[in-house]
Amino acid sequence: MTENLEILKEEIAARLQAGADMTRKDLFDVKMEYLGKTGKISALSKGMRDVPAEERPALGKRINEVRVWAEETFAAKEEELKKKELAAKYSAERVDVTMPADFSGTGTQHPISIVKKEIIECFAGMGFEIYEGPEIEKDYYNFQALNIPADHPARDMQDTFFITEELLLRSQTSSGQIRVMENKKPPIKVLSPGRVYRSDSDATHSPMFHQMEGLVVDKGITLCDLKGILDVFAKKMFTSETKTRLRPSYFPFTEPSVEVDLSCHNCGGKGCRICKGTGWIEILGAGMVNRRVLENCGVDPDVYTGFAFGMGLERIAMIKFGINDMRYLFENDVRLLKQFRD
Ligand code: PHE
Repeated sequence: MTENLEILKEEIAARLQAGADMTRKDLFDVKMEYLGKTGKISALSKGMRDVPAEERPALGKRINEVRVWAEETFAAKEEELKKKELAAKYSAERVDVTMPADFSGTGTQHPISIVKKEIIECFAGMGFEIYEGPEIEKDYYNFQALNIPADHPARDMQDTFFITEELLLRSQTSSGQIRVMENKKPPIKVLSPGRVYRSDSDATHSPMFHQMEGLVVDKGITLCDLKGILDVFAKKMFTSETKTRLRPSYFPFTEPSVEVDLSCHNCGGKGCRICKGTGWIEILGAGMVNRRVLENCGVDPDVYTGFAFGMGLERIAMIKFGINDMRYLFENDVRLLKQFRD
């Protein structure tokens, strides 16, 4: 029996030594083979029955010593395997901080942002302040105060998203004119950029687009002032050769109203594909602020006059950068965007 015990010890030691690559699960299985309920060491304890009574105490003690030894030996091996596993895990997860970073490329400004910034810089240089009004607007500011009462046919010019009878998504930044004049006495020189919404969608229309509104109100303002300011703008935004031209038009909130054209920056006015052979490109609507609008805001039209203009930023960006479909501006395709560096 005692010999068997020595053999068992040797067997265990040999198996653990051979198992350099063993996992902790393998180790557990081996441990069970010896120390489990039906394991070899437990079997020896059960075999005590067949041993003469006087030998039992000494043998029992010996078996116990081997059990303790085995438990310690397995625990030590378990510890060793744990350390090995951790070391392997750490070296697999190691980060080389000296490796060069994965370059993901820098962003560019969106063409609308570039155009917006340039226009603001241009008008700020002429003394304009910036005003940004709300996108969810009252019918009053978007239409009524701008001389477009309910049932006025001009409402059909802008297919509007109504939220309630009273509230809508503003269809034009002209609403800002009223808000500014209600809060500020002339002289007024304000530029009002912002998103506007119309139920319209094709190659040259988007349900959400950007406008830039300008408003100047003071004593003695005339259409010549409008023309002068737009001339400066056209030369700064396009080329120093660019000319402007006013054509009669109609807006309920301006009288007289004009449509403003730029001489084509591509052909210089000779006529080409971009200007459809006319030499001119339409860029914005404008006019002298209608006296009814001034009255609606408590400004005396016999003392003050003013002009207003409004332009679509998408249109300016398309003309400036030669983009022929407005939808490109909303798809955010990086192949388009990365062509723009500011
Ligand atoms: N609000 C007009 C539009 O959206 C543009 C405009 C602004 C016209 C100011 C005249 C004066 O079409």
